[in-house]
Amino acid sequence: MIEATLVLVKPDGVQRGLIGEIISRFEKRGLKVAALKMVRIDKDFSKEHYADHVGKDFYHGLEEFITSAPVVAMVIEGVNAIENVRKIVGTTEPKAAPLGTIRGDFAHVSYEYADKKKMSIRNLVHASGNKKDADREIGLWFSMEDLHSYEGANDKHVF
Ligand code: PPS
Repeated sequence: MIEATLVLVKPDGVQRGLIGEIISRFEKRGLKVAALKMVRIDKDFSKEHYADHVGKDFYHGLEEFITSAPVVAMVIEGVNAIENVRKIVGTTEPKAAPLGTIRGDFAHVSYEYADKKKMSIRNLVHASGNKKDADREIGLWFSMEDLHSYEGANDKHVF
């Protein structure tokens, strides 16, 4: 039941100075940071990460955006971490994201607005969608030795 999931603080989160705020949302819920790094990815890497979206109308803008500045990549662990992290992050479209979620608290734009401006939707965070994606994405972004297994206070009080 303990799962690992990939989370990215995207260029808008990094450039807006929200790295700490975003990571703390996961930590406060008792989830564990198992790996962490800042990296500026190139277009080839973007195509690997977003393999399912290459060729879609919004892909070009998404690639421009995700390669425009560094991102902070991390592996988050916890009970049902994939679902729990996506709940903390909120829905993909910030306009629809409930208050209390990262996207609902720090963003507000709609698909309609982003599409009209021909820009990628700025939604601060990427989080793996399911177990298959999480395994693939963690393997793409991190090597085995980057993943840390350690005892945290939450192991005693939360898990
Ligand atoms: S999600 O959140 O991954 O489940 O969303 P999904 O719809 O599967 O993936 C779409 C990713 O492309 C990003 N994106 C857009 N989607 C739709 N329309 C527009 N205009 C658009 N611009 C960017 C969206 O944020 C998803 O990327 P991630 O990094 O997963 O959030």
